[in-house]
Amino acid sequence: MEEKQTNIYPIFDRMMTREDKERLLKQRSVMVWFTGLSGSGKSTMAIALERELHKCGLLCRILDGDNIRSGINNNLGFSAEDRVENIRRIAEVSKLFIDTGVITIAAFISPNNDLREMAASIIGKENFLEIYVSTPIEECERRDVKGLYAKARRGEIKDFTGVSAPFEAPGHPDLTLDTSVLSLKESVHELMDLIIPKVTVA
Ligand code: PPS
Repeated sequence: MEEKQTNIYPIFDRMMTREDKERLLKQRSVMVWFTGLSGSGKSTMAIALERELHKCGLLCRILDGDNIRSGINNNLGFSAEDRVENIRRIAEVSKLFIDTGVITIAAFISPNNDLREMAASIIGKENFLEIYVSTPIEECERRDVKGLYAKARRGEIKDFTGVSAPFEAPGHPDLTLDTSVLSLKESVHELMDLIIPKVTVA
């Protein structure tokens, strides 16, 4: 294979910094990383959180599974290898937003600790808030909003997370939210309590 990493000289100085941009935006950036099964409520929570932060005058960007997989990652499937590449690219894109001072909200299954650790190390662990949407699979499957669990049970989708591919719960998430127990309003409230002190400037 062709060596792709020669004759590359990234610029690390002279560009305006993250701090310059945060000052301009009057906010601090942080990565809010939702992990959880398909149908657990990641996207719904990401959207509600963005609206709430926006109301407080805070600039956010959502990156969401199906959207990213329709664009930048439209050449990737759901093998273990493709999931690594999916999350690697998402983490690199997130880092660009974080470095622009933007609060970045990611909603990806990101089904194991290694994947989430890779994302955190690309983005910077100090910027990374891991939010585990712990809605049990029985509830996700009962909702089956996209009909994917039914298809997976019939064997029509291979490597489906929770059915024919593993999901590893995070060991020490910054917050755990179970949408079968909490209302959306309650979840967003908990998220705001965690995030607001990290992103507001005096
Ligand atoms: S991952 O594991 O982080 O790479 O997955 P992600 O990029 O978040 O994509 C998850 C969405 O893809 C749809 N989908 C599947 N999910 C899991 N397994 C398989 N095999 C699969 N095939 C398609 C599904 O709509 C997921 O969206 P969410 O929002 O999680 O329900």
